[in-house]
Amino acid sequence: WPRPLRDRHGRVATDLRVSLTDRCNLRCTYCMPAEGLDWLPRDELLTREELNRLLRVAVTMLGITSVRLTGGEPLLRPDLAQVVADVAALRPRPSIALTTNGIGLARRAEELRAAGLDRVNVSLDTLDPDTFTRLTRRRRLPDVLAGVEAAVAAGFGPVKVNAVLMRGVNDHEAVDLLEWAMRTGVQLRFIEQMPLDAQHGWDRAEMVTAEEVHAALSTRYRLVDDRAERGSAPAELFRVAGTAHRVGIIASVTRPFCGACDRVRLTADGQLRNCLFARTESDLRPLLRGGADDEEIAGRWLSVVAGKRPGHGIDDPTFLQPDRPMSAIGG
Ligand code: GTP
Ligand code: 5AD
Ligand code: SF4
Repeated sequence: WPRPLRDRHGRVATDLRVSLTDRCNLRCTYCMPAEGLDWLPRDELLTREELNRLLRVAVTMLGITSVRLTGGEPLLRPDLAQVVADVAALRPRPSIALTTNGIGLARRAEELRAAGLDRVNVSLDTLDPDTFTRLTRRRRLPDVLAGVEAAVAAGFGPVKVNAVLMRGVNDHEAVDLLEWAMRTGVQLRFIEQMPLDAQHGWDRAEMVTAEEVHAALSTRYRLVDDRAERGSAPAELFRVAGTAHRVGIIASVTRPFCGACDRVRLTADGQLRNCLFARTESDLRPLLRGGADDEEIAGRWLSVVAGKRPGHGIDDPTFLQPDRPMSAIGG
């Protein structure tokens, strides 16, 4: 040790995405039904000690250099700052990022920054209060906006905002969102909707494509390709001509970035997944709770990543959506 998490297609996983809970305080229509989902029972969730052990194995034995905390909604974890501090104490210290819907961030941004959080991505699909309520089924737009502003003020750099556009709902807001992002000092990224909703209602024809987003923004701004430093990042970046700002488009479906993927995922209940779209998971809890040593856990991890498929396969005729929705897998 250390040994890299290499798959059979030559990719190496260095970015661990950890879902801290499957619960959420919003009910985005493209994610879950109004009544919510059957949340994981508490005794199936990893304890903080178990999570710490896995993170230590990942960082010291398997070459993980960046950790992203996701959910569900990770701010629902009262101990989030402690989790961040635990990750920040690992050596070599990985970079630590959070993906959140922003509710409650205004109150906790400083605390999280002090605990060692490096970066924050906030999900926000609309600036219109009524559209927000229709889309998320909750009246929380002011909380999200306050959360974004607090994240900028706390000095997280650069704060990114993720927006999913939906036809006939918020697809007329592309330019408004960009102008708001430029004023607020955040990097906006538009994301193509993927087949990951609990209701299995995704329809490719309904998806607002990267091409359409580009065209909508181009009615008002000239976008200049800025792909030099993309690396394994999912977003294609564009400079907004005449400004100092950049905007991203994450074309997960129409221009997949699977070939450069450096990710591996751990769910809140201790399942290792080699892809967002993996058909199988590997349960680490029996190892953790059954006395396995670190080598055994690391060995399992290596074999899970080794079996990673080359791509998400959304376009294959045999494509099957994962059994779990994105809220349970981790964003
Ligand atoms: P940074 O670029 O480092 O800030 O991280 P990120 O963009 O990966 O993080 P974020 O959690 O904000 O993810 C943004 C979006 O990228 C998600 O909402 C997904 O739509 C998409 N995404 C994240 N991970 C994957 C993945 O493994 N596969 C695919 N196809 N899309 C992903
Ligand atoms: N397709 C693309 N992005 C999605 N998100 C949630 N569900 C989907 C989906 N089906 C986004 C959220 C958030 C991030 C974690 O994932 O809007 O920005
Ligand atoms: Fe919550 Fe994110 Fe799903 Fe919206 S997309 S309901 S914020 S987990």
